[in-house]
Amino acid sequence: MRFDIISCQPDLLESPFSHSILKRAQQKGLVEIHIHDLRKYAVNKHGQIDDYAFGGGAGMVMMIEPIDKCISELQAARTYDAIIYMTPDGQTLNQRIVNKFSLLENVIILCGHYKGVDERVRQHYVTHEISIGDYVLSGGELGAAVLADAIIRIIPGVLNDESSALTDSFQDGLLAPPVYTRPAEYKGMAVPDILMSGDTPKIEQWRFEQAIARTKQRRPDLLNEE
Ligand code: ADE
Repeated sequence: MRFDIISCQPDLLESPFSHSILKRAQQKGLVEIHIHDLRKYAVNKHGQIDDYAFGGGAGMVMMIEPIDKCISELQAARTYDAIIYMTPDGQTLNQRIVNKFSLLENVIILCGHYKGVDERVRQHYVTHEISIGDYVLSGGELGAAVLADAIIRIIPGVLNDESSALTDSFQDGLLAPPVYTRPAEYKGMAVPDILMSGDTPKIEQWRFEQAIARTKQRRPDLLNEE
């Protein structure tokens, strides 16, 4: 899967993709991440990519021309399955959306800044608008990193333990059950006996019941989702 991330703050995106699982996914050839500095497509030699809003009001608006130039250059080289705009008024990200995106081959992620992008970009270029939650970030970069991380970790071969992404919270509509590791007892705090029993079917049943109980208690809304 190939990600092309368009940003006017490309430095913000360097670190998240240079470590651990996301770095290994690229080294294994499972993912390509290309970060594009929008200023390279500025409308003048001063590096201008934003301007005042028509009609007045505070805050700058990202101009259509640099974004068009960047997207057009990318589209001349390959076909894109999605052009995703990161914005607080987009669809709130969840595991279902992540799973769908993970099936795509080439994806552009556009990071917003300031008061956002000229509406014509959203109308004529963007195919999906995604928010990572009901709060406002100073730019779309952190959201883009969250989105890309969630997608990349479920691409087959990225995680060493293939089954581990499948047992994540949300993957089956439930929160994950509690987990324990050694020692079996620490300062009087013991691991549930069932986990030490070696009875795999019983352990699976216990985990399922714990997942249901935890979801009921913490996120009952998930149980009502289709
Ligand atoms: N840009 C600013 N806030 C955002 C959010 N909550 N999600 C995605 N992109 C954003």
